[in-house]
Amino acid sequence: MTSSAPEQSPGGWLGLKGRTCVVTGAAGDIGAEIARQLVEAGARVALLDRDEQRLAKVLADLQAGAGQAMALACDVTSTASVQAAADKVQAAWGGTALLVNNAAALYADALMDIALDKWNQLLAVNLSGYLLCAQAFGRQMIAGGGGAMVHIASISGSIPQPYSGAYSVSKAGVKMLSQLLSVELGEHGVRSNVVSPAMIRTQMSEQIYQDPAVRERREQIVPARRISTPADIAGAVLFLASERASYISGQEILVDGGLTQAWLSLIPRPGFQKEDAAGAVA
Ligand SMILES: NC(=O)c1ccc[n+]([C@@H]2O[C@H](COP(=O)([O-])OP(=O)(O)OC[C@H]3O[C@@H](n4cnc5c(N)ncnc54)[C@H](O)[C@@H]3O)[C@@H](O)[C@H]2O)c1
Repeated sequence: MTSSAPEQSPGGWLGLKGRTCVVTGAAGDIGAEIARQLVEAGARVALLDRDEQRLAKVLADLQAGAGQAMALACDVTSTASVQAAADKVQAAWGGTALLVNNAAALYADALMDIALDKWNQLLAVNLSGYLLCAQAFGRQMIAGGGGAMVHIASISGSIPQPYSGAYSVSKAGVKMLSQLLSVELGEHGVRSNVVSPAMIRTQMSEQIYQDPAVRERREQIVPARRISTPADIAGAVLFLASERASYISGQEILVDGGLTQAWLSLIPRPGFQKEDAAGAVA
């Protein structure tokens, strides 16, 4: 195959070089990896998070060239804070082409016990925060003639994740928010899509993986037989953000190693000997 010019640089085939991107929750493991891959693809990246200390470390680790990345302290639940970040991106780089809505929280609560303020607090970050960012950065995309949004949801937006308070509800909401954005912003050249991860080992989930028995059991039930990494998620995000996905909007990509296809393999069958599947129903 003859190589064309864009494919000579890493990620050049994506057409993201020089594009202005905003990643929320960029101090977290998945957000940081998305930012790293965007910088590698030649994009300019604004890293937003409320955790300024971790954000500064992520920026330092990015090894981005001058003018290629900036860190902005931002609380996505605050209209003023999100608008201030959007104004800084506009002033520095003249508008946004890509938004990755990723900042989220997870609290463990049974529905019968969760206090209303905690329920509202989670929805404020995981759902309303996505809307506020879509509004502030979406306006810049409309003014600039188009753009792309990728919202990080979860397979728990389609399959109930019990005892996690409002988390599943928030992620189901993110999916519909993205679908609505794809319809309302389509005429402005703005695409909106969702990436839904399953099990990833990050700071959000680290406590779960401290128990080796839980980790091994989780690995057993995934057809891919491994827990995913932030790089797995970032790859799907970059694709949906890129020119390679130029006619894809209102869609969801599940990055789950096949987990959501495997439920029927968990049902015991008489005489079925396959050791790994049997292990999965122990
Ligand atoms: N880790 C998993 O197993 C998993 C599975 C499915 C989906 N996800 C989703 O992936 C995304 C990233 O998760 P992660 O595992 O990297 O989590 P993480 O906890 O490592 O990172 C989340 C980041 O969001 C930031 N944040 C939280 N509230 C904020 C606010 N109000 N304003 C600004 N920033 C705020 C945090 O400071 C943190 O840096 C989330 O949307 C999460 O729901 C994660």
